[in-house]
Amino acid sequence: MKIIHLSDPHIYTDKINGIDPVDRFKKALAHIIEHHQDADLFTITGDITDLGDKESYQLFLSIVNDFNLPNNLEPQIIIGNHDNREIFKENFTSIKLDEKGFIQYFKDLKNKRFIFIDTNLANTHAGHYCEDRQRWLKNILSQTSYSHEIYIFMHHNPIALVKDSSDGIGLQQKDQFKNILLDSKKNIKHIFFGHQHITSSGSFDGITFSSPRSTWSTLIPNFSNKYREGSANTDPNYNVAIINDESLIIHTEDFLKTDINWFTEE
Ligand SMILES: [Fe+2]
Ligand SMILES: [Fe+2]
Repeated sequence: MKIIHLSDPHIYTDKINGIDPVDRFKKALAHIIEHHQDADLFTITGDITDLGDKESYQLFLSIVNDFNLPNNLEPQIIIGNHDNREIFKENFTSIKLDEKGFIQYFKDLKNKRFIFIDTNLANTHAGHYCEDRQRWLKNILSQTSYSHEIYIFMHHNPIALVKDSSDGIGLQQKDQFKNILLDSKKNIKHIFFGHQHITSSGSFDGITFSSPRSTWSTLIPNFSNKYREGSANTDPNYNVAIINDESLIIHTEDFLKTDINWFTEE
């Protein structure tokens, strides 16, 4: 199974910080079409737009529409801190919602359950997972068969990527969230997230995770006590997860790469 994980396109009608998010998103989509037509799932984990406005959502929809993606590449979308839940729902009228109106849903494919969650809270860049949303997740996990592999998709990072003191905008209910996953005793395989615009991978309490950079603005981690993170002239990317019976491999696709020379099998 192959999963395409793109995040943080930050669609806007103009350049932001000198970079055109629309041009880069289109290049990423063209790269996906060229190289990953066979993917089983395509997800975009939030910050769909930069300002959460109708014009930008309509622009996003028209870009995706123009690419005429096959059914297997129809994007599974969640929202991030730069999105506006109500305006998003007005523009994505067929998006699935939980019973409280949060953008949370799941999709089953073969022996796998993909759970998409909503960590947006208006007027803050930090991630929030309130009790209503936690209850929904507990319920879905409890209903999931022990034989199903579970994959979680979210916008905000569920752990600090460098240190807690420099993670003011990550998920705020980290312990509650982790405990929901661990207490479920279900087969949770991996967490896919975005938000920090940093390529990362690792594990916590035995659950592996990964994040790609944004397709728009590429940020880099800082390991001192002085800075939260930084920007740099480096490649944007999206991730490709390859899942087999006994393995999960995350590749990073730097879709602006040039001078490619493929080696044939000996
Ligand atoms: Fe973002
Ligand atoms: Fe974000």
